[in-house]
Amino acid sequence: TRKIVIDTDPGIDDAVAILLALKSVEFDILGITTVAGNIGIQTTTRNAGRILALQDRHVPVIAGAAVPLSRPGRNASYVHGNDGLGGVAFPAPLAAPAGDDAVAWLAETLESAEAGSVDILALGPLTNVARLVQEHPASARRLGRVIAMGGAIHEPGNVGPRAEFNIAADPEAAEVVFRSGLDVTLVPLDVTRKVRATHAQAAELRSSGVAAAKVSGELIDAYFQSTGGGESRPLHDPCVMLLVLDATLFTCELLKISVDRTMTGDAGSLDIDASGGAISVAMKVDGDRALKLLFDRLLG
Ligand code: BDR
Ligand code: CA
Repeated sequence: TRKIVIDTDPGIDDAVAILLALKSVEFDILGITTVAGNIGIQTTTRNAGRILALQDRHVPVIAGAAVPLSRPGRNASYVHGNDGLGGVAFPAPLAAPAGDDAVAWLAETLESAEAGSVDILALGPLTNVARLVQEHPASARRLGRVIAMGGAIHEPGNVGPRAEFNIAADPEAAEVVFRSGLDVTLVPLDVTRKVRATHAQAAELRSSGVAAAKVSGELIDAYFQSTGGGESRPLHDPCVMLLVLDATLFTCELLKISVDRTMTGDAGSLDIDASGGAISVAMKVDGDRALKLLFDRLLG
């Protein structure tokens, strides 16, 4: 098993990603750290607890950054609903959050684990990870990998012409993480838009007797409704877990990336140096095989 921390802003697709992780024996989930993003920090933190309760799992939830490093926060309640989970029913959390300082908890966790043995799977704005790098650099160097959903390389963005939500929500944090020298893998819209569920596939999940699958089907239905339909919806955040579970699903390239940190409508867009760099970026995915792995785990 691999020790991981999930850093997340649940979030419809975050919830599916967390359920995938909970259903995968490969992961030893040390904790879930939360960040403001899709919705405010109190709601993302509570949602992490609700998702764990659905699976009757006791994993510490530690609340993290309520605002980006240096700009006003934004949210995506127009996609994820005011409750962050599209109005889908979940049980109440089994326990109160284990703390309210995710950055300090991450530093302590990394200090007490073997160096290189803990990965962060980041599903939201990178505020907590950037603060770990800035405030606890020696602890941050003890990380294994950081695998983060975010950005758009050749694809158009989803909140600006070329800007993707997680990076746009805190471009300064993303820049800190990309320059940190850590082992970073980025999972951009270029691949996450190719891992898609249809109405029929959502219905198949919903009609199963397995709670994680049933609720994931309901979450995908809610996503169809908030985004105005279409034939299929992309499943962004689960791609982070899928990449760690089976690296052969993805083709990665090493790129140098800098982040647009202006206050314009395309802040958070990425500038790529094609001559190469140190950030591993997932550029291609076998979408059918990725979706099959996700569904097999949710239904298992
Ligand atoms: C990302 O933004 C959020 O709304 C989703 O949860 C995902 O992490 C997609 O751009
Ligand atoms: Ca997310």
